[in-house]
Amino acid sequence: MENIEQRGMGDAAGFRPAVRPIEDYVHLSEAELDRRIREAKRELGDRVVILGHHYQRDDVIRHADVTGDSFKLAREAAQRPEAEYIVFCGVHFMAESADVLSGEHQQVILPDMAAGCSMADMAGIEQVETAWEQLRDLGLDSLMPITYMNSAASIKAFCGREGGVVCTSSNAAPLFDWALKQRQKLFFFPDEHLGRNTGVKFGIPLDRMAVWDPRLELGGNTEEQLRGARLILWKGFCSVHGRFQARHVDDRRAEYPGIKILVHPECRYEVVAKSDIDGSTENIIKTIREAPSGSRWAIGTELNLVNRLANEHPDKFITLLAPDLCMCATMFRIAPENLLWSLENLVAGNVVNRITVDPETADWARAALDRMLAIR
Ligand code: 13P
Ligand code: SF4
Repeated sequence: MENIEQRGMGDAAGFRPAVRPIEDYVHLSEAELDRRIREAKRELGDRVVILGHHYQRDDVIRHADVTGDSFKLAREAAQRPEAEYIVFCGVHFMAESADVLSGEHQQVILPDMAAGCSMADMAGIEQVETAWEQLRDLGLDSLMPITYMNSAASIKAFCGREGGVVCTSSNAAPLFDWALKQRQKLFFFPDEHLGRNTGVKFGIPLDRMAVWDPRLELGGNTEEQLRGARLILWKGFCSVHGRFQARHVDDRRAEYPGIKILVHPECRYEVVAKSDIDGSTENIIKTIREAPSGSRWAIGTELNLVNRLANEHPDKFITLLAPDLCMCATMFRIAPENLLWSLENLVAGNVVNRITVDPETADWARAALDRMLAIR
């Protein structure tokens, strides 16, 4: 991420109204934050839309006009031309995608610039380009780059330029299907686990998958391994989902006989293989909503969402898959204080924490994102 300051951008004419500092907000009570957020939203009316990812905390997500997983929110960003401002309660790569997919007249705001994603940071554009060159030097020409949504805009642009595509956890299967019909091999980044879990669904044997460690020559593989691989997986992971272990599944099953295990496909292969159901964030929510009263679930995903599901479905027993794991720390960066700060600055005519992607990168990233949206 390029910078972690809370910044004001002023308007197009260069006029810069005084930015209200974030320090003015940090001591406000919960009730006052809540009241003033509602007031600022009322004043801004249709000029603003607040998008909220499901992993946001309760005191933030309750103010979102639309909630969703990363796929749904990307689609929403592309379909809200009436809103002058898109306030993204999520993480940096999501706000970048919203900027790429929204109109030129729209401005995207991330209420806290430190809301990044450790997985997205595991693949740098220079590393991906170096890997690509090394693979092409081996003569591996029929190679399709696919990036997970959780990546920087520069990486999405790289995929756009190379005829590749973006996928999310809710459409990885149709995107893999499309890609495998176009080229012989897939190069998937930055989430090793989602890539492996999706590859297995397509019958790709584990020994036909190579893992690319960007710190090592040829990603730590032999030429033969790379030539034999159908799927090359970047060595990256989610610091939340990657923590669930196969033993957590065994422990929950022993503790609550008959409990169903429901996990996100960013979890390790061993965890997904032992689960009853795996699915994207939206699918997890749908599964619980449709589950019969009295059913019991251990869920392997972000803590704020699991707690919310438990509160919303008191007729079902819902617990986190692992007893001692914490929430996504970067999603948690977006606090009501930051949301109010960004909204009241908008009311005062000051755009703070605007996320912009440079036009060339945006054009190519849009090519990869549009390809995704056209396929599913
Ligand atoms: P989805 O929103 O695609 O389920 O991804 C989960 C996630 O980790 C987002 O950062
Ligand atoms: Fe990134 Fe994982 Fe947090 Fe999602 S949950 S933002 S993938 S660290």
